[in-house]
Amino acid sequence: MRTDHRAEPAEPAAGVPGHGATAVAHPNIALIKYWGKRDERLMIPYVDSLSMTLDVFPTTTTVRLDPAARADGVTLDGSPAEGEARRRVVDFLELLRERSGRSEPAVVDTRNSVPTGAGLASSASGFAALALAGAAAYGLDLDRTALSRLARRGSASASRSMFGGFAICHAGRGAGAAADLSSYAEPVPVPDFDPALVIVLVDTGAKAVSSRTAMRRTVETSPLYRAWATSSKADLAELRAALRRGDLDAVGEIAERNALGMHATMLAARPAVRYLSPATVAVLDGVLRLRSDGVSAYATMDAGPNVKVLCHRADAARVADAVRGAAPGCSVVTARRGPGARLQTEAGR
Ligand code: PMV
Repeated sequence: MRTDHRAEPAEPAAGVPGHGATAVAHPNIALIKYWGKRDERLMIPYVDSLSMTLDVFPTTTTVRLDPAARADGVTLDGSPAEGEARRRVVDFLELLRERSGRSEPAVVDTRNSVPTGAGLASSASGFAALALAGAAAYGLDLDRTALSRLARRGSASASRSMFGGFAICHAGRGAGAAADLSSYAEPVPVPDFDPALVIVLVDTGAKAVSSRTAMRRTVETSPLYRAWATSSKADLAELRAALRRGDLDAVGEIAERNALGMHATMLAARPAVRYLSPATVAVLDGVLRLRSDGVSAYATMDAGPNVKVLCHRADAARVADAVRGAAPGCSVVTARRGPGARLQTEAGR
């Protein structure tokens, strides 16, 4: 993995003249999680979610229309994408063609600076960058709200990476077109709340069960799912109030219980989905020890074993040391709030 986690990945191959655009997007980590879709085709979540966009691990994606090609070309970190990864990008390109009324195939080149599919939100940065670059390449003139709605069709968490800082993704109401229109992300302005998120990479291998499969199984079989979705609504209201107060302890407590609750729903699925590993639990113990030593530190985990610890910026080095001690061998990256997705202009290159 790259060691400069803030640097944008190597520039994709230069495009030929024609319709093309490059976009950069950062991943986001949800403090109130989205888990479960009520419409898998339109990618409409069951619950609202709220996240912090990071300043590390950017994805850079170039989309270039290629009228001479017979099919879309998709490369991920320089190698041809295959299977599910390719299919998701091609489906997204189909959506762009349908919306724009154009028919040209595209060449998509994506560079991730974060391991793909390891529960590190690579699908959030990936589909945010693809939505922005793809919309520009196919000539769609969309505002940020519409772009967040479009990114949601690739991955619901990607809608939030359209915005920097904190963002909420609305689950929306109704079905079909009404659901599509009402499910989008928007910024949650809390300019003075600027914590650190210490990311503990306990395992960067691809997950055994995709989040798509895991959430479907959880919704269909877990007796705990509905209870979590209900309590998540209350968590969101409390978290928004805590963010407005700039109360890191309250934000952390709510985020930690929301994440643990989400993992509990998966553990109760049939068969169980368990992303948390022994190293995850060791880091969670380390976080508890920090708290009993008076350090404000709170954990959240996504669809993978890696842990993200929310803390004050002034405590980040101490938290990083503590988690290294708790899970020897893991690597640790400290993030802060980062920018929303943006197009790279020729001048900005
Ligand atoms: O965006 P997806 O489909 O990869 O789902 C991931 C959902 C979580 O990361 C577990 C939670 C979230 O809200 O980001």
